[in-house]
Amino acid sequence: MDIARKGPGVGALVPRARLNSSGARQSLNGAWQFRVSRGLAVAPDDGWERDDYRATGWTTIPVPAHWVLEGHGAPAYTNVRFPLPIDPPNPPDENPIGDYRLVFDAGPALLNGAVLRFDGIESAAEVFLNGHRLGTTRGSRLTHEFDVKGRLRPTGNTLAVRVAQFSDASYLEDQDMWWLPGIFRDVELVAVPDMGIYDVFAVADYDPETGSGTLELTLTDPHGRPGRARLSIPDLGITQEIDGSATLTTGRVEPWSAETPRLYDATLSTPDEEVRLRLGFRRVEVRDSVLLLNGQPLRFRGVNRHEHDPSHGRAVPLEKARAELELMKRHNINAVRTSHYPPHPGLLDLTDELGLYVILECDLETHGFVQVDWRDNPSDDPEWESAYLDRMQRTVHRDKNHASVLFWSLGNESGHGANLEAMAAWTAAFDPSRLIHYEHDWDCTYVDVYSRMYATHAEVRAIGEEVLTPASFDATPAQLHRRSLPFIQCEYAHAMGNGPGGLQEYQELFDRYPRLAGGFVWEWIEHGLTVDGRVLYGGDFGEETHDGNFVIDGLVSADREPRPGLVALAHWYAPVRIEVTDASVRVHNRYDLIDLSGLRFVWRTDEGGSGTLDVPAVLPGQTVEVPLPATGPVLTVEATLANATTWADAGHVVARGQRADVRPTARPATTAAPVRSAFDPVSMRLQALGGLRLDGPIPSLWRAPTDNDRYPGRDEPDLPPYAERWAEAGIDRLRTRLVSATDENGTLRTRLRTAPPGRDFALDAEFRWCQVRPDALLLDVTMTPRGLWPVEWARLGLDLVLPGRPTGLDWFGLGPGPAYPDLAAGAYLGRHHADANDLFTPYVRPQESGARRGVRQASISTSAGRLGVRVVEGGVPEIAVTVSPWSRKTLAATTHHADLVADGNTYVSLDLAQSGLGTATCGVGVLPRYRLPARPGRVSLLLESSAG
Ligand code: GAL
Repeated sequence: MDIARKGPGVGALVPRARLNSSGARQSLNGAWQFRVSRGLAVAPDDGWERDDYRATGWTTIPVPAHWVLEGHGAPAYTNVRFPLPIDPPNPPDENPIGDYRLVFDAGPALLNGAVLRFDGIESAAEVFLNGHRLGTTRGSRLTHEFDVKGRLRPTGNTLAVRVAQFSDASYLEDQDMWWLPGIFRDVELVAVPDMGIYDVFAVADYDPETGSGTLELTLTDPHGRPGRARLSIPDLGITQEIDGSATLTTGRVEPWSAETPRLYDATLSTPDEEVRLRLGFRRVEVRDSVLLLNGQPLRFRGVNRHEHDPSHGRAVPLEKARAELELMKRHNINAVRTSHYPPHPGLLDLTDELGLYVILECDLETHGFVQVDWRDNPSDDPEWESAYLDRMQRTVHRDKNHASVLFWSLGNESGHGANLEAMAAWTAAFDPSRLIHYEHDWDCTYVDVYSRMYATHAEVRAIGEEVLTPASFDATPAQLHRRSLPFIQCEYAHAMGNGPGGLQEYQELFDRYPRLAGGFVWEWIEHGLTVDGRVLYGGDFGEETHDGNFVIDGLVSADREPRPGLVALAHWYAPVRIEVTDASVRVHNRYDLIDLSGLRFVWRTDEGGSGTLDVPAVLPGQTVEVPLPATGPVLTVEATLANATTWADAGHVVARGQRADVRPTARPATTAAPVRSAFDPVSMRLQALGGLRLDGPIPSLWRAPTDNDRYPGRDEPDLPPYAERWAEAGIDRLRTRLVSATDENGTLRTRLRTAPPGRDFALDAEFRWCQVRPDALLLDVTMTPRGLWPVEWARLGLDLVLPGRPTGLDWFGLGPGPAYPDLAAGAYLGRHHADANDLFTPYVRPQESGARRGVRQASISTSAGRLGVRVVEGGVPEIAVTVSPWSRKTLAATTHHADLVADGNTYVSLDLAQSGLGTATCGVGVLPRYRLPARPGRVSLLLESSAG
C-alpha cells in the first residue's frame, strides 16, 4: 500500500452526480471483520485480501464507524497543528492500519454491471474485491466508486479494505476536529444498467425579469459519451427526449429559495432505469458588489456545520442530521457552510427540501503549514495539483444537482497557491451557475466573493462602507475588482462556552450595508465525545499534542441541546423585527424575497388580554406601523407561523417584540432594626431570616471564567485575558472586613470594606437593614469603589449561600433562558420558572452560566426553604439573579461538567451590573459598551423567607 505519494487515489471511476435511481442498490453496511496493526511495516501481508483467506482471530466492527470509537485506539484532537512531523507526503511509522473484510452475496440485479461505492474513508484506503485490487482512495469525506462489472459473484464475494489512519492525504486534511480513522460512511453496491442513466447535470435557472425558467440538462454514459433518456416534469407539462444535452425553456416557474423551497419533481427514464430529480429554479449572481438571489439582495444568516455525533463522531445518522437542520430552521438560520468538507450526501436532499442555502466546501485544509511559515505548503506544489483537482471534482460532481448549493468553496485555511487557482478555474468552467468561495484569497483573484473570518466590527463596517464612496483614483485593477464583490464573514461570533457576545452589532452592520451578505457563526455543534457519561475533549484520550476544549465551540451541544447563544442568534436572524412603542407596533420585513403573509401576529398583555394583529403583507425591506392593540405594563407581540411547515408546527414563534413599563415596587413600611442575633457577630453577615438559615450577603466582583474570559480578544491582543487580569488583581479571592455596625433610628447599619489580598484598592459597602415582618427584611445597599482599580470587573453584586440544594427559581424578569448584557436578545419579560437543571448551562468545561436578567422579583427554592427577593424603589430597578448548586471556585477549578460535585448548598448572586461576554476565544473581546469598569451601585431589596 502506497500512502506516501502526492497524487489522488487510483482506480476509481471519474466522479458523477449522486442520483436517486430506480436501479438496484445493496448496502454493505453492517458488521465487518476487522483487525488493526501498529503501522504499515507490520500490517500482515498474509493473503488477507484473498477470498480463500480465513480471518481467524479477527474481531468485528460496525461499518460505518470510526475504529477509535469502537474500542481500537483513541481519538485525538488538534486544531491548527499537525499531530505528526511536517514531512510531506510521509505519514509517521506509528500509523494504525485497519484491515476490514466482508463476505457477501450479491443480488442478481447487480451482476450485470455495478459500482462499489464508498462515501467516506479516513484517511486512505486500498480496496480489493475477491482478491483483485480495485484501487485506492484519497479524500476522507469524498465519494469513490469502483467498477465491479464482471467481478461480482452471486455468492461468497470477499471485499477487503486496508485503511491507513495517516497518509499523504493527512497533509490536506488538517481541519480543526478529531482525527477519526475508519470507514465512517456508507458502503454500497449500485447497479449500472447497460441502458441506464449514468450521470446527469441539471442546471435550473430562474430569470427574475420574466419569471421563467431554463433547464440545461447534460447526460453522460459511463464512458463519458452523451447519454439518452426521456425527461418528464409533470408540473411544467414537459416531456421530451434528451439526447446528450438540451436546453429547455419552461415558461413561468415558482423560484426556489430558502424562504420558498419549491422543488419540481422530474424523471429521466430509459428502458432500464428511472432517475428522479428534484429541480429548484434559482439564480445566484453578483451585481455591483451585492449578492443576489433571484434578482434580490441575499443575506446569509448562517452557521458553520461540522458533522458530529457524541458517540459516532462523523458517522452521523441521517435522522439526526435532519433533526439538526429542522432545529436550524426553527432558529431562523437560512444557510450552512459545510465546514470543512462535503457532508453526508443525504444532507443536500434535506437542505433542498427544507430551504437552507449551502456553501459546499471541498475536503481540504493545510493549516498546519502555517507553523513553518507555509514552507512546502501543498497548495503551491505542482506535484499535488492532481490531488487538489481530484478533490474539487469529486466535491462538485456529487452534489452538482442541488438547488441549495449556491457556492462551491475550495477548502479552508490552505494558504495560497497555484493548485487552489487550478481548482477555481476548473470549477468556474464546469459550473458557471454557481459562485466560488475561498476565505484565504483576500485579494480575490480567483473567487467571486470577498470572504473573511472573525473580522472585527470596525473592519466589517469599513468593508461595507468602502463601496459607498468612489474608488480612489490610483486604485489598482485588483483593488477595483475586489470592490466589485460582495462580502461575507464565512466565520464569526465564535460560540465557545458562554457567549457569543457581539451578535447584535454584527447584524446591524449586515443589515445596514448592501455589500455585506451576512455571515456564518462558528459553529453549529460542539464536538464533545461522550464516554461513560462524561463529555470529553482534547487531551482526555492521552494525546501528547492536543488543543484541549477548543473543539467544544457550538451553538448546540454535541447531543444537540441548544445553548443560550442559539436563542440570541434566533432573535438577530429573525425574518421580521417587531418594535412595540408607546404609540404603535412597527413591523419590519427582513425576509429577502417574500412578504409577511406566511406569518400571523398575535399579542398579549401580562394581565391576560390577547388577540391577533392585522399586519398587511409588507414587502421585503419595508416597515409598516399598526396601531397598538392594547395598553398595559407589558405588551408582547409575536410573529408566528400561520401554517405548519416541514420544520415547525403552525404557531411556532418566529420573532417577538415587547414594550414594558413596569413601575418599581414601593418601599414597604418598616418596624425596627433587626435583632443582632440574626447576624454573625464577627462579619455581621445575616445568618437567619424567619425560619430560613442563610449566610450573606457579601459584595462580589468575580465570575467563574468563561471560555471567552480565558483568551485575549483580537481587539486587545497584547493584554492578558480577563481571567488572568482578574486573578492578577485578586478579585477572585476578595476579603471582606466589617468596618462598623451601628443601630440608628430603627436601622442596623453595617459598613464593609472588600478588597483583594496584597492590594490597597477596595470596594466599600454600606448595608442598611430594617425589619418589615418577622420573616422579611428591607436591605438598602450602597457600594462605592475606593482607590485605583486596575481592572474591569466581572460583576458588581452580592453573594449569599442558602443551605440545601437548589430546586428551582421563579421570577418576574427576562427569560426563560439565561441572559448577559451582550447576550440578552431572545429573552423576554414575563413570569418564568426554571427547574433545578435549568438553573445552569451544562457547558462541557464548567464556567459562569445561568444568570437571569432584568429581574424585579424572584423566589429561590431550595430543599431547605425559600428565599424571596424583590427589588424596591431606592436603587437600580432590576437585578440579575444567578442560582447555582456550585460555588464559583468549584466551577473554576473543575475541568469537566460530569466532575462537578455539589456540596448541598445553594449559591445565589444578586447582581447590580455584569460585564458582557464577548467572543475572545476567536474574535473580539467584550465590546466597550458592555464592559464594567469600577463604579458605584445602589440597590434596595426586600428579602422574605419561608422555611421548607
Ligand atoms: C477558524 C477555522 C475553524 C476553527 C475556528 C476556531 O480559523 O477555520 O475551523 O478552527 O477557526 O474554532
